[in-house]
Amino acid sequence: MIRRPPRSTPKPSSAASDVYKRQDVRFRQRPRLTTACGSRRRAQVLLGDMGAGKSSLVLRFVKGQFHEYQESTIGAAFLTQTVCADDRTIKFEIWDTAGQERYHSLAPMYYRGAAAAIIVYDIQSQSSFARAKSWVRELQKQGNAALVMALAGNKCDMEEKREVEREEAEAYASENGLFFMETSAKEALNVTELFHEIAVKLPKAPTPTNGPGVVLTNQNRTPQKSQCC
Ligand code: GTP
Ligand code: MG
Repeated sequence: MIRRPPRSTPKPSSAASDVYKRQDVRFRQRPRLTTACGSRRRAQVLLGDMGAGKSSLVLRFVKGQFHEYQESTIGAAFLTQTVCADDRTIKFEIWDTAGQERYHSLAPMYYRGAAAAIIVYDIQSQSSFARAKSWVRELQKQGNAALVMALAGNKCDMEEKREVEREEAEAYASENGLFFMETSAKEALNVTELFHEIAVKLPKAPTPTNGPGVVLTNQNRTPQKSQCC
């Protein structure tokens, strides 16, 4: 379900607040770029095919958890995590978008305000890789040259079912100026490294960004089985 917050009072209704607390999804307004303690706030968006593992990567990064039956995201979820990179502290405000096609038209609200984007595909699926490429094209078209883009080939623990060769993805990434890593949210492989590398690549002086105007929420739905099992 898509929820639109009232313009002046960014506070969840009591009916929705449990869902928001449980899933760390919060109403928000346009972000300020510096927190009280001096760390930078930088918006980040995850894009990719349904089931590629976007939510699992974020959950692993933020909470150190993995769910075998991760719920499919409805709209988008919002989480935060602070990273220390070089001499900087960066508070990532992470928008984990829904991969289902019916939410595609909402994605610009999230990537337009982002300083970084992680495009995720499942190494077990050529169609998921093709979807990742189409996200890259869409981001390139919107013309934000300062956007740091990373390509993550997730589920690299599933080597025996691999469809997308590492070399193929590496070559694509380098042709398109993307930073590339294979990851496993399940085995916690390269997840912290991925986010850390993005933090390092972010320019030191952030350009002001427009936060999304509409906030969406995750909701419970039938558990989705892993594509790989
Ligand atoms: P949408 O929200 O529908 O767009 O999907 P998503 O990209 O957020 O994928 P999600 O994190 O929900 O993961 C989909 C399924 O893949 C879940 O069953 C996860 O448990 C599984 N999964 C995620 N990451 C990994 C991984 O690294 N390895 C393996 N083996 N399974 C994974
Ligand atoms: Mg998800």
